[in-house]
Amino acid sequence: MVHAFGGAIRAKRIQRRVNNNRLTAYVNGSFLPLDEANIHIEDRGFQFADGVYEVIACLSGKFLDIKPHLKRLEHSCQAIQIKLPYPADTLESLIQQLYQKNPFKDAMIYMQITRGVAPRSHNITGPIQPSLVMTVRELPAPSKEKLADGASAITIRDFRWGRCDIKSIALLASVMGKQEAARHGVDESFWLDDDDHLLEGCATNVFAIIDGTLVTHPLDHQILGGIMRDMVLRTARSENIPVQERPWRLDEEHLSECMMSSTTNALLPVCHIDQKAIGHGKPGPVAKHLRTLMLKKLEAFRNS
Ligand code: PDD
Repeated sequence: MVHAFGGAIRAKRIQRRVNNNRLTAYVNGSFLPLDEANIHIEDRGFQFADGVYEVIACLSGKFLDIKPHLKRLEHSCQAIQIKLPYPADTLESLIQQLYQKNPFKDAMIYMQITRGVAPRSHNITGPIQPSLVMTVRELPAPSKEKLADGASAITIRDFRWGRCDIKSIALLASVMGKQEAARHGVDESFWLDDDDHLLEGCATNVFAIIDGTLVTHPLDHQILGGIMRDMVLRTARSENIPVQERPWRLDEEHLSECMMSSTTNALLPVCHIDQKAIGHGKPGPVAKHLRTLMLKKLEAFRNS
């Protein structure tokens, strides 16, 4: 039986292919149209999530904090004993070439390194050539409403693994956390430790203003050392905003603002958590000030 929407579905599929074929991916030494870029089904990334990744923002052809990103990639690779397939300067050049082969002015480069292809076995029995895959998408911009009203989130008990400092491609917990956020109609889920401290989000770091101090969880195995987290802290310190890296909870006295950071969104005020307003339920003065300063820095970088 022919489906009544068969024509429309086929047209959509063809359109997707046309769009995807405007995009170029990088797979193990080759630049290919996205739809033709494939990886072996016995790649250990596919079989075991045995790999790590990075997401790097590009503003008008300039890669934001590329060195810290590549350093973090190296840290993640070292932690799971994968050798970087290329030295950092070769990776930089491949990233640059991939950006130029894609149609976006502001982009996100997604790069993934896996242990490589081998017959499926948990044991790593011999030397394997790591796989390197990279794709590019347009860098999203938060909507006017999101900026005016602030983002929203829920909190959920952390059920991830014990090495969140490694940027692992095993993102199932983050996918489930994001699904839970979507089910509640909010933007993000923040992970809570057993004492109800906020650790980080599924794809963000999280901060609070408590008694005028910018507070965020310290760097340890429970959070990713976000590149933007670092920029937020540096920006605050340069403005003489006091900073504390310590565990914190939502029920602390004098908590007046929350915000979250990531490569994809820089810094966003978070004004509702678990359906409760934070402060007055609108972006607060410190979050607004820090976001403005960060955007200024990003524009200066773009034009440098
Ligand atoms: N995620 N914490 C987690 C768990 C993350 O996945 C991310 C980033 C961050 C923020 O890190 P950075 O400032 O370096 O982007 C914190 C990326 C954007 C992602 O998975 O798409």
